Amino acid sequence: MTTTERRGETELSAGFEEIVAADQRVEPRDWMPDAYRATLVRQIAQHAHSEIIGMQPEGNWILRAPSLRRKAILLAKVQDEAGHGLYLYAAAETLGVDREELTEKLIESRQKYSSIFNYPTLTYADIGVIGWLVDGAAICNQVPLCRCSYGPYARAMIRICKEESFHQRQGYELLMTMMRGTDAQKAMVQEATNRWWWPSLMMFGPPDADSPNTRQSMAWGIKRHTNDELRQRFVDMTVPQAEALGVTLPDPELRWNAERDAHDYGEPDWVEFKSVISGGGPCNTQRLARRRRAHESGAWVREAAAAYAAKQEVHP
Ligand code: 3HC
Repeated sequence: MTTTERRGETELSAGFEEIVAADQRVEPRDWMPDAYRATLVRQIAQHAHSEIIGMQPEGNWILRAPSLRRKAILLAKVQDEAGHGLYLYAAAETLGVDREELTEKLIESRQKYSSIFNYPTLTYADIGVIGWLVDGAAICNQVPLCRCSYGPYARAMIRICKEESFHQRQGYELLMTMMRGTDAQKAMVQEATNRWWWPSLMMFGPPDADSPNTRQSMAWGIKRHTNDELRQRFVDMTVPQAEALGVTLPDPELRWNAERDAHDYGEPDWVEFKSVISGGGPCNTQRLARRRRAHESGAWVREAAAAYAAKQEVHP
């Protein structure tokens, strides 16, 4: 690199630092450090993959939803998740990677998706509990991302968060209805809560001391809070909701700590977490196999769309 090039890069880097320090948005046309771009691609791709894989556990119940109303709500929610995946892949494309490449990485297990979607949906109460806890955790984690320093990601998150709020409410309303039902329905809600509570806490990522990316992502304004801060916020928000619902959260260490003005809670099983994110969760193999099959069987649609686009270029 020549002295002039080096000076040019120093100026560009100072411009980037200024944008971040002033809490303004970095846009695709702006210069950005390679590591900032790589971190965004990693996080946005993982987020997009999570939305797409996340359609599977709930999709499992569309045909078995107990009424037309519940079926319509669930269908709309699963379709929203597909939309979220698409906004996020589009945001990643502004960083110079394309969706095809990211999808290949997902189906070859070279990129991650959220741990939570590797757990099975065993009863219909899981649909309500996913809305309440999983979408509740997603909202906690994602509302601060509306202020992410990268413009296209931040703007995609605004719409996603509005839709996630609807998802959370439909889940809670479904559980409220079941809790007014028979003893068997109430027991089903409690049992689903017991299974989803700890995996929901794991969604926020490893404890801060074991999170290699948080410090730098916060310095760049990609993440606005640490994993533990958001996990705590989620616990504090969820405890009164559980009380209103009439279910018990399965943590004997959960109690209000007046000194900290927050709840104390038990340690999630981080060995399980590590196993799930390295492919050893109960449904990892099934989720990826299904995604791979869907990608392969959709090849003709992509080919037809590409052929049509090419024809339009020749004869607009
Ligand atoms: N599942 C899978 N992998 C996880 C994870 C989780 N719950 N939490 C952390 N990881 C991975 C990280 O990706 C990272 O792996 P890598 O370095 O190999 O890429 C490693 O564990 C270390 O974690 P860090 O805390 O250092 O990683 P991050 O700084 O990226 O923080 C995060 C992790 C908090 C999940 C952050 O990436 C984030 O906020 N992502 C955006 C939100 C997102 O992806 N949510 C997924 C759920 S989507 C959803 O809920 C849809 C809704 O419809 C329900």
